Amino acid sequence: MRTDAATYGNQCGDAPASSLQLTVTVACSGESYLCRRDESLLCGMLRLGRKGIPVGCTNGGCGVCKVRVASGHVRQLGAISRAHVSAEEEATGYTLACRMAPETDVILDVVGKLHRNLTRTAAGCIAVQAPTRNDHGRDER
Ligand code: FES
Repeated sequence: MRTDAATYGNQCGDAPASSLQLTVTVACSGESYLCRRDESLLCGMLRLGRKGIPVGCTNGGCGVCKVRVASGHVRQLGAISRAHVSAEEEATGYTLACRMAPETDVILDVVGKLHRNLTRTAAGCIAVQAPTRNDHGRDER
């Protein structure tokens, strides 16, 4: 089932109360948003109000919300598909924004569709790409 941003955004609720807020920063664009400890990184991101933030399955299955946690700590809210985040990628910080909640302030690198849509107007942003396997079985970017 596909969920659109408006529907998922309504499930996420209003901006967090000041006592519960943590700051999530998108490294490439420098934008920050507030996120509660009990909601996903994707929920908070939708409050940026940026057109085109992709919202897919919202349950860790489609991979459109792939990010890399560059700093900070997150808590897993549910299972994530290994088809979209390998164990090797997870070990280097890659995850799915719909399945992670912040435990501390967080800095995120956005990848794939999220990168294209969040950094569309941010001059000088360089795409962060998830590693891919070369012919020798090694990760490369
Ligand atoms: S929206 Fe599908 S994996 Fe996050």
